[in-house]
Amino acid sequence: MTYDEIRKLFLDYFKSKGHTIVPSASLIPNDPTLLFTVAGMVPWKGILQGTEEAFATRVADVQKCIRAGGKHNDLEDVGYDGSHHTFFEMLGNWSFGDYFKEEAIAMSWEVLTKVINLDPNRILVTTHISDDEATEIWKKLTGKEAIRLDKDNWWSAGDTGPCGPCTEMHYDARPELGGGLPGSADEASGRYVELWNNVFMQFDRDANGNLSPLPKHNVDTGAGLERWAAILQNKNDNYDTDLFVHLKQAVSDITGVKETEENKPSFKVITDHLRAVGFAIADGVIPSNADRGYVIRRILRRAMRHGQILGHRGALLSELYPALVKEMGDAYPELKTQENHVVEILKNEENAFADMLQNGMKLLETELPKVNYNVLPGNIAFKLFDTYGFPLDLTQMILRDKNINVDVDEFTKCMNEQKERSRADTRGTKILWESQSDLPDTDDKEKYETKTDTPAKVLAILRGEEFVKSANAGDEVEIALNHTPFYGTQGGQVGDSGVFKQGDNVVMNVSETNRVNHIVIHKGVLTSTLNVGDEVMPEINQNIRQQTARAHTATHLLQAALRQVLNEDVEQRGSKVAPDSVRFDFSFGRSMTAEEKQAVEDLINKWISEDLNVSHEEMDIESAKQRGAMALFGEKYGDVVRVITAGDVSCELCGGTHIHHTGEILKARINKEKSISSGIRRITMSVGTLAE
Ligand code: ALA
Repeated sequence: MTYDEIRKLFLDYFKSKGHTIVPSASLIPNDPTLLFTVAGMVPWKGILQGTEEAFATRVADVQKCIRAGGKHNDLEDVGYDGSHHTFFEMLGNWSFGDYFKEEAIAMSWEVLTKVINLDPNRILVTTHISDDEATEIWKKLTGKEAIRLDKDNWWSAGDTGPCGPCTEMHYDARPELGGGLPGSADEASGRYVELWNNVFMQFDRDANGNLSPLPKHNVDTGAGLERWAAILQNKNDNYDTDLFVHLKQAVSDITGVKETEENKPSFKVITDHLRAVGFAIADGVIPSNADRGYVIRRILRRAMRHGQILGHRGALLSELYPALVKEMGDAYPELKTQENHVVEILKNEENAFADMLQNGMKLLETELPKVNYNVLPGNIAFKLFDTYGFPLDLTQMILRDKNINVDVDEFTKCMNEQKERSRADTRGTKILWESQSDLPDTDDKEKYETKTDTPAKVLAILRGEEFVKSANAGDEVEIALNHTPFYGTQGGQVGDSGVFKQGDNVVMNVSETNRVNHIVIHKGVLTSTLNVGDEVMPEINQNIRQQTARAHTATHLLQAALRQVLNEDVEQRGSKVAPDSVRFDFSFGRSMTAEEKQAVEDLINKWISEDLNVSHEEMDIESAKQRGAMALFGEKYGDVVRVITAGDVSCELCGGTHIHHTGEILKARINKEKSISSGIRRITMSVGTLAE
């Protein structure tokens, strides 16, 4: 049974049981606690917690996942066995307040024994030590006595958030290995394969570890497609299933090296990493030095090292990517639509590292004979990092086979010293605001109206690094109100400025407005005493708002024009919208010609002169999609979204503020176009009186 067949059988089954089938969400989660989507439930966290409305009570999908950082991290294990991956596909079904343990278990059992026809005698089940109910259900349904475990049968995505007891199904894939039962100390590695996990999401865990019951009882299940494929194809190693056999063939074709028992780990690492890096970049991750961009860069560099072990020099994943598209592009069309962009990024990234890899290896080879007690000094690992771009884990991976460790403490010391040297002295106040956990979210609905008739209450005053009850004229402060028409910087649009008044008196000049999570923070200087609890009238500077709004609408026109003049694949990768000026980053593989720049500018000015109507509408996400509204890459939107439409040239999901007729933009002028990283270009543009 191939991957394509298994996906289809799984989804068809759950469809027949009343589930809504949805496509995989992005690998980039809309969740600050996670770097990547690590499980099928990640896109549904809000629904599970009860903060988001469920669009259906039964849902099933096949979700792209990456486990390569944070709580769920399998990176170090890839290549060393047949079952670990950084990228994998998770089959899953959910009940959002619909069925619970009994029905979930019955459906899993039916799929395993009737749909993919596994031998029921070879399936073992585990339940949580506290969960008598699930244990009884298994007994009644199958006669099986569940093995009761503690930690292994409790599941959560992160340290906080929805969690609960779970029941797992294991397959006795290799009885000949002997050993104890799943979860026991003498369990033989590789004998039992975890087939499926059903989590009964009943609790929400807060930052202190306290559990509180969730509003509804939910079911979250997850099964590794690669493992199912291995069992159904009679393989002991996931990397010997159809999909990987094809990808490994591509590795052979490109490196000219055949797979052997000895070099098999390199084939596994390269094919696994090709999937992680390829899918992540197709979802909008750009290799970089921070956060998820750095995880992807590290994975790519590890893959290149394994290419080097196979005797290959230079670009590797960029050469292999077309094979990935061929293998998985039907199931995940984004691999195809993003092909040019991904290959471009991979090429640049690989070309930049190729020489460093060779030279760094030379340095390492001269240092290795000097190594004492099997420990590489931290300053050498740091030099490899600093000069040759070797992430620490790459150096560790290279040395692992030689049984040499890195002096990580010394490495960290070198890193910290360098950080200290380059630390900017600006200290943000974000952390201070984040510590105010009792502060309610600011009601900022009035930002679209641009003004309010109702006085707002001062909820918090931050002066320097201290929250104070009262501050005086001349003090520089940051203030949170209970409601405000001020737009706090977000989605690339810079925030409002303005004043707070009491009667006719100005009590504060607000020079900028920011957001920390859902709190709008007004920053400025007081012109009279202000206390927590006082009421003020917040008034934004309408002039500046108008300039920002026209710049924002112009940004949408710019994107539409780029797609017409360059091609439909151009996608926004970032933006900064300020009064009368725009900075717009987009995916495109080369510099624009002077003619193209002129054509884009002319097109925008044509739309301005046509004075197109700009409508601002709220609707549900489905209607917005039907409308063809363009969404920001990798962004997750709420159920109700704002759709900004300019004539019939542009239709985008957008939470920013806009004008009502394109004529208000007056004029647009492109100033610069340049590269900012591989495959990403930046345009700066002026509008309004500035452009005139
Ligand atoms: N979320 C559960 C898991 O990943 C199903 O195992």
